[in-house]
Amino acid sequence: MGDVGWTRRDVVSGLALGALARGAPAAETPQIEPRRSMRATALPVIVSAGNGHAYLDAAYRRLHEGVDTLEAALQVVRGPEDDPNDDSVGLGGLPNEDGVVELDASCMHGPTRRAGAVGAVHDIKNVSLLAREVMLHTGHVMLVGEGAERFAVARGFKREDLLTDASRKVWLLWKQVHSDWWGPGLADPDWQDRLPGGADQSRDRGRLEQIAQDLGIAAERRHDAIQKVLFPPTGTIHCSVLNAKGEMSACTTTSGLAWKLAGRLGDSPIIGAGCFTDQDVGSAGATGSGEENIKVAGAHSIVESMRRGMSPLDAGMDALKRIVRNYGGDLERLKFLDMTYYVLRKDGAYAGVSLWTGYEPGKPHTIAVHDGSPRLEQTVSLYHGASREWPPRVAPRRRGL
Ligand code: GLY
Repeated sequence: MGDVGWTRRDVVSGLALGALARGAPAAETPQIEPRRSMRATALPVIVSAGNGHAYLDAAYRRLHEGVDTLEAALQVVRGPEDDPNDDSVGLGGLPNEDGVVELDASCMHGPTRRAGAVGAVHDIKNVSLLAREVMLHTGHVMLVGEGAERFAVARGFKREDLLTDASRKVWLLWKQVHSDWWGPGLADPDWQDRLPGGADQSRDRGRLEQIAQDLGIAAERRHDAIQKVLFPPTGTIHCSVLNAKGEMSACTTTSGLAWKLAGRLGDSPIIGAGCFTDQDVGSAGATGSGEENIKVAGAHSIVESMRRGMSPLDAGMDALKRIVRNYGGDLERLKFLDMTYYVLRKDGAYAGVSLWTGYEPGKPHTIAVHDGSPRLEQTVSLYHGASREWPPRVAPRRRGL
């Protein structure tokens, strides 16, 4: 990959916890705590992606008041869905290539063994709640597109424009680069046609910095905006909940891969990929490269591994290794994708695992946990390094720069 040499990153397979500590990130708000025993000290317990942290406490209190586990999970994920400043889900989510926010979600209710999902939904902010409506009020499990939107309106959901000015400006910046998703993908033998890498990335960044300024993107937001253009994110939130009676539920919701082709579904709405709960065993969910997670049915694979006796940590690692195996362990391609799993077993043992340490140096992947006190813990990563260290450059013939 040209000058983007692998040797710049210390790749270590396995669970080298000590090395993570050596690369400790600068303190953030909220503080990321050292990893604990990965076993809840008390029930109930909630685990979620890091962006759920601010919403755990209120959901936890409601669990103590006796609210259902799915209600608690939905309360957590609604937080980022409602937040216009969280561009990974719901209102303010990064749009598809047409500039339209397109949302996916799924949920599973352990006690009744029911599931609901929606995909490619426009103009409806809380698709997590819409997934529950499909579960409760139809004979189906999944609705997509216009049909899902009409169903939402019939169930009393409000249509609203979900594209915020901030997300629109990042989309406009991406339009200047004008990459596309028509392939070849990472799994294609000609994948390097799409991701040539190498050459003068500082030139790209310089041009993007100027365009971002012209678009009125505030100076303090420009780095983040450029990162999202160079590394289209797959921001998502998953939440799994276990109550004191041993009941479990889960939900995953997302605006999906930024700049995607209209109609693209990732793993989040796929029961068994982005979200899976088995009341007898445990629950799991995912954030990260949806295409990769679909191919290994990640959440279902993890729950099945736990059913066969694996710990949450080992089960999560096994799913990551299945992704690695799909690329024959080829790190030249694996460095362009990332995956985090959130795993909760019925006895309160839990784990957060990720393919890479984080998206950027100093910003590790986290799992938010509440078992009486809310906290953010670093995930255990299979490889050490930041998965957005090497921008997948757009081939000159593909871009307008
Ligand atoms: N993991 C979210 C997505 O790929 O859409």
